[in-house]
Amino acid sequence: MNEEIILKVENLQTKFRVGKRIVHAVNDVSFELKKGTMLGIVGESGCGKSVTAHSIMKLLPKNGSITGGKVKYYDNNGKAHILNEYDRNSKELRTIRGKEISMIFQDPLASLDPVYTIGSQISENLREHENISKKEAFDRVVSMLFELGFSNPEERYYDYPHNFSGGMKQRVMIAIAMICNPNILIADEPTTALDVTIQAQILTLMSKMQKTHGTSTILITHNMGIVAETCDEVAVIYMGRIVEFGNLEQIFNTPMHPYTKALLKSVPVLSSGGEKRLEYIPGATPDGSEVIKGCAFADRCKHTMEICRTKQPVESIVDGSHRVLCWLYDKGGKNA
Ligand SMILES: Nc1ncnc2c1ncn2[C@@H]1O[C@H](COP(=O)(O)OP(=O)(O)O)[C@@H](O)[C@H]1O
Ligand SMILES: [Mg+2]
Repeated sequence: MNEEIILKVENLQTKFRVGKRIVHAVNDVSFELKKGTMLGIVGESGCGKSVTAHSIMKLLPKNGSITGGKVKYYDNNGKAHILNEYDRNSKELRTIRGKEISMIFQDPLASLDPVYTIGSQISENLREHENISKKEAFDRVVSMLFELGFSNPEERYYDYPHNFSGGMKQRVMIAIAMICNPNILIADEPTTALDVTIQAQILTLMSKMQKTHGTSTILITHNMGIVAETCDEVAVIYMGRIVEFGNLEQIFNTPMHPYTKALLKSVPVLSSGGEKRLEYIPGATPDGSEVIKGCAFADRCKHTMEICRTKQPVESIVDGSHRVLCWLYDKGGKNA
């Protein structure tokens, strides 16, 4: 595996202001994305997956801000760009976003414009970032549509979104994200709205695109089953913190954190009626505006000790890249 790093997130913190409350959505998140690989970010709804992605892209709503840490992107020349330090409307950031790093948003089906043809919506992104003729753009879009499994792409180019099924629209969203051949693709729950057969097709397609184009990918999902099928490395996130990070083998064969173990036990069942959402783990995620002294998972954990309620766990390195944020693994209590 290529060990070159393309994205480095260091101690990222993102907060929202909601009236008088402060919501701590991302707390001290650090991870690296290796070139050409797929990293899964997995966790229950509300744990901070989308906010992590939006922070990387610097696409936070007005009441949100990055209050600490760094997002470093290494371009093709190896130059580091600290994305969070760019002005949100700077030309440099806009060029990186869209051309070098692109994102498929959660609920992407709503983001296609009903009044424009599919082809024009894909080529718009291309022509914004590359100085090419209409004809060249048309050819690039047609070949991308073909690559994404449309058998008559020239005709499809002139169709409108309402002519397309959910799965076809999702492939169009992938085309929009991939048309500039980005170095990094961030896909936020890209298949959640689709039925199971189509989910599998889209994921296979994403893996194929990732391999043929060498795109480094962050795949966000609440489903461990999807992670198992597609990812090289996994970040398990709970209440805005990475509680465990490891490669696929480490996370699935020797999971450490009680939360990871619970997630693995409750992989959503895929059936013909769609995805059955399971009550993952008893208890609810705490409100992000509460100040929690100890471990945020303590109330739901089977192994809670006294220290878990009083002190934030310190990360332990288990084995190489495998790390866990849990007092159970604090060997000899050296951090306690
Ligand atoms: N615009 C916002 N204003 C206030 N709080 C927000 C906003 N967006 C997200 N949050 C909060 O941030 C936390 C993480 O949300 P999110 O990243 O969307 O979770 P998910 O893991 O489901 O993608 C949640 O507590 C959510 O309520
Ligand atoms: Mg989300």
